[in-house]
Amino acid sequence: MSHLGRINNLVNHLMVEDVEEDQDELHLNNVSGKVKKDSITVTDNRTGKTYNVPIKDLTINALAFREVSETAGDNGLMVYDPGFQNTAVVTSTITYIDGDKGILRYRGYPIEELAERSSFLEVAYLLINGNLPNKVQLDSWSNRIMTHTFLHENLVGMMKTFRYDAHPMGMLISTVAALGTFYPEANPALVGQDIFKSESVRNKQILRIVGKLPTIAACAWRHRIGRPYNTPVNHLGYTENFLYMLDKLSEQDYKPNPVLCRALEILFILHADHELNCSTAAMRHIASSGTDPYTSVAGAAGALYGPSHGGANEAVLDMLQQIGAKDNVPQFIADVKAKKKKLMGFGHRIYKNYDPRAKIIRRVAYEVFDSLGKEPLIEVATELEKQALNDEYFIQRKLYPNVDFYSGLIYKAMGFPTDMFPVLFTIPRAVGWLAHWIEHCEDPETKIYRPRQVYKGEWFRNYVPIEGRPPAKVRSQDFYSSSTTKRYSKVTSSS
Ligand SMILES: CC(C)(COP(=O)(O)OP(=O)(O)OC[C@H]1O[C@@H](n2cnc3c(N)ncnc32)[C@H](O)[C@@H]1OP(=O)(O)O)[C@@H](O)C(=O)NCCC(=O)NCCS
Repeated sequence: MSHLGRINNLVNHLMVEDVEEDQDELHLNNVSGKVKKDSITVTDNRTGKTYNVPIKDLTINALAFREVSETAGDNGLMVYDPGFQNTAVVTSTITYIDGDKGILRYRGYPIEELAERSSFLEVAYLLINGNLPNKVQLDSWSNRIMTHTFLHENLVGMMKTFRYDAHPMGMLISTVAALGTFYPEANPALVGQDIFKSESVRNKQILRIVGKLPTIAACAWRHRIGRPYNTPVNHLGYTENFLYMLDKLSEQDYKPNPVLCRALEILFILHADHELNCSTAAMRHIASSGTDPYTSVAGAAGALYGPSHGGANEAVLDMLQQIGAKDNVPQFIADVKAKKKKLMGFGHRIYKNYDPRAKIIRRVAYEVFDSLGKEPLIEVATELEKQALNDEYFIQRKLYPNVDFYSGLIYKAMGFPTDMFPVLFTIPRAVGWLAHWIEHCEDPETKIYRPRQVYKGEWFRNYVPIEGRPPAKVRSQDFYSSSTTKRYSKVTSSS
């Protein structure tokens, strides 16, 4: 049974018939007293008992189901929701999404307006502090971020020890985690759990992380291409400095292309937050144990790295390259429908409509192509989009292009290899993670994250000494040998 099927079963099970909605208060059998209209009434058919559960903000409290027990002391019911498809774990004021209508707003501002008129650091201020800054506030914020861009030389030294072909996400994740070791005064394990109650301590870590991430990302890139790392230039803009650190060689007064700075700025704005996505949930999950934000950001970046999330733009490019030409699109669509392949960059847990960010990115892609020349794979992408949007398989499942469908093409046109794509996603998304971290620190309802499970394993077994055990039933023990081992076995077997 699919996950949705299981949830539907549960919902059907909980459904109450014949409740008159238009009355303010209802009288029901087995429920003592009057029942509020903003509530659901649940009958447990095992016991015949009826329970009344209040509805608040379109939610019911999951803990209410603990009361629904068959026998005394059986701990009641849990809500089974693999992948958190319909479970709210926080209240938030940061980002609003209406997936059916294709709406995305940061702190109430439509993403389209922010992408058109704002700058990344202004949006970062908005997400982290709650409101748009005035000129003085924005100047001070930008200045502070840009004076936190330098890395400790030991950290630079550590980055230099990675292999030449290390995946830049692996470098970024480890370096961000290592960054935390340079600030013992911000480590709750060393200085106490209450440390992040101080706004000033929180703010300092935010400046450091937002300031240093582009430097770490640029070092990862320069490492890959075997060039010396560039030191940041604080009087440049955020994306301008990033492009400078990536590309500067020995030119005097090197200035990055302003069209590319603005394109990157828009991409960063679009990627800055997306409410409780996989990596943001990971950020909150890790932070809930009280760890420092460097470790939480590193963990969140790990969650972002996967191909179902931030690694999707990398996967889109691989997919487009495999398809190769417009003529091969129908066969690819047929393979997707036969479940042999997945159409990467399509589909979203929340959006059941065109992702509003994808629309903006499509336009930015053409602006970048005007400046740098057209990326040939755009032909394959537009044909793929056209055919998928007209195909019953995708229509029925409400699968539309998401943010990653076109972003990879822009990055490719800008000359980034695909493994840099998730890094380019991580830099702006860290702002969203940190906004959620603050909300988490200030939320009086915050608790350590600890989901429940349905145990279906062996109930009870006594330990049997090894001599008396039959061969264990296990999953496959197949593995492959490294080439060194293969050569070594040849030598030993022939001798
Ligand atoms: C994002 C994603 C993980 C959401 O997954 P989800 O909400 O769990 O959706 P489901 O996996 O339940 O998908 C529902 C149905 O659509 C199909 N589907 C979803 N995304 C699909 C895709 N990209 N290509 C083909 N079929 C897809 C599923 O196979 C499933 O079909 P079924 O009902 O016949 O079994 C998923 O759409 C996906 O993997 N997309 C590609 C990766 C991607 O672009 N990620 C970036 C997100 S910003």
